[in-house]
Amino acid sequence: MINRRAFIASASAVPLIGTAQGVLAQTQRYTLRPERVMSDISGVRQPLLGFNGQLPGPTIRARQGDTFDIAVENALEEGTLVHWHGLRLPNPMDGVNVLTQDVIPPNASFNYRFKANDAGTFWYHSHYISYDQVSRGLFGALIVDEADPPDVDHDITVLLFDMLIGGDGRYSEEFPPGQFTGPGRLGNVEQALFSEQTVAQGACIRLRLLNPSVDRVYNVGIAGLEGQIVALDGMPLVQPRPISQMSLAPGQRCDIIADVTQPVVLTDFGAEIGRLPLSGQTNPRRAPLPRLALNHMPRPSGQIVTADLLLQGGDGGSGHDGFGTWALNDVSGLPRSPLADVRRGTALRLTLRNDTAFDHVMHLHGHHFWEMRDQTGEVGDYRDSTLVRAGEQRDILCVLDNPGVWMLHCHMLSHQADGMATWLRVT
Ligand code: C2O
Ligand code: CU
Repeated sequence: MINRRAFIASASAVPLIGTAQGVLAQTQRYTLRPERVMSDISGVRQPLLGFNGQLPGPTIRARQGDTFDIAVENALEEGTLVHWHGLRLPNPMDGVNVLTQDVIPPNASFNYRFKANDAGTFWYHSHYISYDQVSRGLFGALIVDEADPPDVDHDITVLLFDMLIGGDGRYSEEFPPGQFTGPGRLGNVEQALFSEQTVAQGACIRLRLLNPSVDRVYNVGIAGLEGQIVALDGMPLVQPRPISQMSLAPGQRCDIIADVTQPVVLTDFGAEIGRLPLSGQTNPRRAPLPRLALNHMPRPSGQIVTADLLLQGGDGGSGHDGFGTWALNDVSGLPRSPLADVRRGTALRLTLRNDTAFDHVMHLHGHHFWEMRDQTGEVGDYRDSTLVRAGEQRDILCVLDNPGVWMLHCHMLSHQADGMATWLRVT
């Protein structure tokens, strides 16, 4: 393995590929095998789903500028697809049936290859019958390390897992209609799965929170840390902010950099869902908390195109076209024509109006977008999924600079399955 200092010393003689820091870009090869796994995650040992024998699947990792080369070998008895949530990648690699590829049948494989352009916390999950496959365990974390990573003692991933079990402690095989038309399939086993078991008091840590649950919006509280929220949905904040109680909807992520002052305890609406006990002490850092460099954010230029998206349906909702209970602009399920059909580089301002009695989290593929601040018209956070509460309205602004056909859907996967999905075309 090439030592970094040695490489930099000799770098002037070598034509550089990749990052400004002079670290050679590499290809990170992985094989992910969706398969049945025996798991006791709910407290009872039973067959569920996972990747490479693990539930959640293994964390896959690259350095910013590297290329992922991932063979997905389907060892299930049913079809599947893998989507790389939050990555701005080429359209054919997006893992969406109907729009970008066919389902991978049992015993077949598909090779995904894409560059890790953005550093941050992302994830991968099944995008086929996802309300079912993800709820059984077909998800994992995907991390892109900064070219020059912040100096922390521990880099810890936390998956906010939620599973519905029956009286026998086993995964509930029931999918009654009410799970699709209301708030979704909410579990009764909530747990924060930490990638480490303990942490030292005084250590500086990075905590990557990720909500892979099918429908639950967590209201996360964090005790035992003193520091800042530094990124949302993989994208570093322009201005880090204090740690506070926050909503984390399905698909969303939040990165924190902080010092450990007490055992780290995570809560959902005040109820404990997991903790990291202390294992001794370490000398506290002397330098200020490390910051993250921003990822590239394409700036809107020229005319801004506008569109409206009305979120409709659910329990008590009125009739509309298409197959399901939920609808977007009067159509349930993917409409024949895209919500927007634009040239690459077009800035789209989309007004999301939630006309239902339930919350929704709208996720756009292949891009990030700004949540607009209500009155001022200023841009807020740069995210890939936005939570729009019942009855609320929110504008998002997106520079559609990635050519292809991109899904826009509610990431409450029961809602997506029941029609809450549309798409955009960028040419
Ligand atoms: Cu996280 Cu369309 O998905
Ligand atoms: Cu929804």
